[in-house]
Amino acid sequence: MDKIKNIGVFTSGGDAPGMNAAIRSVVRTALHYDIQVTGIMKGFEGLITSDFMPMNSKSVANIIQRGGTILKTGKSDAFLTKEGRQIAYDNLVRNNIDALVAIGGEGTFKGANIFSKEFNVPIIGMPGTIDNDLIGTDFTIGYDTATNTVINAVDKIRDTAESHDRLFIVEVMGRDSGLIALRSGIGVGAEAILIPESKTDIDVLFNTLSSGRKDKASKIIIVAEGEEIGGFEIAELIKEKFPNYDTRLSILGHIQRGGRPSCMDRVLASRLGVAAVEALLNGKKCMMVGLMNQNVVYTPFDNAIKHLAEADPNLLKIVRILS
Ligand code: F6P
Repeated sequence: MDKIKNIGVFTSGGDAPGMNAAIRSVVRTALHYDIQVTGIMKGFEGLITSDFMPMNSKSVANIIQRGGTILKTGKSDAFLTKEGRQIAYDNLVRNNIDALVAIGGEGTFKGANIFSKEFNVPIIGMPGTIDNDLIGTDFTIGYDTATNTVINAVDKIRDTAESHDRLFIVEVMGRDSGLIALRSGIGVGAEAILIPESKTDIDVLFNTLSSGRKDKASKIIIVAEGEEIGGFEIAELIKEKFPNYDTRLSILGHIQRGGRPSCMDRVLASRLGVAAVEALLNGKKCMMVGLMNQNVVYTPFDNAIKHLAEADPNLLKIVRILS
């Protein structure tokens, strides 16, 4: 393979805090190795529309602390077609971009995997999603910040719950994954955590609520967005079963995606950015770079996307013991 001279970097899918730190790391590492870097705007869509911008050290100054992504992000219908991907490839060739770093989640790596194999373009993925639902890394970039956002919000909700002796159902993000709910739920001392990975038995939940501590009138139940019954219906069922409880539903929504990344996400993004560029220089492709047990590991896209990370049964046990 010819020496890589120009690496394109883009963010795709949902934004996640720490994506800017990841971009910064990729850009500065590439420059360190005397390689040019091209920023690709709006994910795969920018490949098709040739929305490219050369990046230098200054382009990524003062962004490590910022949420969102300076390269913008989104989904591309055109890239789902073979014709769209051909245009994307032609644009890469025309702009002398020899390799790519794709920052995103499962959908991003699916697209990158197909593209890389179709046109033999070396691509390394970096896990950027608040959901933490990828195999091949203990944490995805954004997950730590998102779960901290949740606990900060629920701590505030707890003040009202305590003051009014209320029961709050708090719905958190995670369309297919309960990992945000599980971690933040333990962090706020929730009475129950309902996630898509384990089927919700409403009678067990009722039992938990009626057999819980009698000296504690306020209660918090964390429900993942992807849970089968859903926060709204659960709130209705609880109101019906326990008319004496003063029950409220709070849906946290997109505040979980924004904000300044935590130190952990900044460091993770910085480490993985260096590893991604070095992987390309060492001839790796079609892989996601991750951190497991504090070691950098590379997982083929095929594995990272085919098996979504599962909820740790030990954590589920902790919830049952502590609630
Ligand atoms: O994948 C990240 C995520 O925030 C999920 O937790 C959530 O279900 C989804 O994105 C929401 O996507 P959108 O912003 O497109 O509604």
